[in-house]
Amino acid sequence: MTRTDKSLEELVRELPPELHGPVRDAIELLLDRHARRTAGTEQTEPPAGTAVSLRQVTGETVRAICRLSDTLVPPKRYMVAPNAASFAQALFEPKAWYRAIYAGETPVGFLMLYDDPDEPNYFLWRLMIATPHQGKGFGRQAVEQLIEYVQTRPGAAQLLVSCEEGPGSPEGFYEALGFRRNGKMYDDEVGLALQLPYRPE
Ligand SMILES: CC(C)(COP(=O)(O)OP(=O)(O)OC[C@H]1O[C@@H](n2cnc3c(N)ncnc32)[C@H](O)[C@@H]1OP(=O)(O)O)[C@@H](O)C(=O)NCCC(=O)NCCS
Repeated sequence: MTRTDKSLEELVRELPPELHGPVRDAIELLLDRHARRTAGTEQTEPPAGTAVSLRQVTGETVRAICRLSDTLVPPKRYMVAPNAASFAQALFEPKAWYRAIYAGETPVGFLMLYDDPDEPNYFLWRLMIATPHQGKGFGRQAVEQLIEYVQTRPGAAQLLVSCEEGPGSPEGFYEALGFRRNGKMYDDEVGLALQLPYRPE
């Protein structure tokens, strides 16, 4: 049997086991893109000003949300864990509240809140906007919608976050939303707090 007589699945199985998952993902992505091109439904990039919504992640969307992490490039890539790692952590943390960020119908990012009404403690644990969609106000819209959610939670007097300093740091983004340093450190990350109720600056 020559190489070209083999099915794709047979060719994948000949690769080292650690490559099976990534290669299947890449094939799936290419076939999906081809199908959308052929059907004329390939999504165009949402322009700045497109309305953002926070949506539940489903079995159908989880892979697309994971792949958004692949678009981040250094140094911003070092500022947030991969979304796949966040999903894995959320499995073991009942207080994890997470949503995909959509601009129109396009998935553009992900956020996760540590949502603890007992303490109470509301901590923005993860946030990312995919590189092609940054700088369009989607991050701001997403955090403003998260703030609306947090303001419905018991005893919510502030929303906390921590971030790295230095090149690629999102601190200026949080400052633009009204977060200020609260004097705390979380490992090597600087702590910031937004006092509630939120008053846009
Ligand atoms: C931080 C991040 C979520 C911002 O998302 P975004 O959609 O590009 O941000 P927006 O376009 O909504 O910007 C909102 C405001 O913040 C400002 N801003 C954005 N990033 C900034 C930065 N790194 N430094 C200073 N200001 C910044 C914008 O200029 C804008 O200001 P304006 O509203 O006064 O015009 C995005 O850059 C990202 O995913 N970074 C990598 C991961 C990361 O750092 N996550 C946070 C972990 S704590």
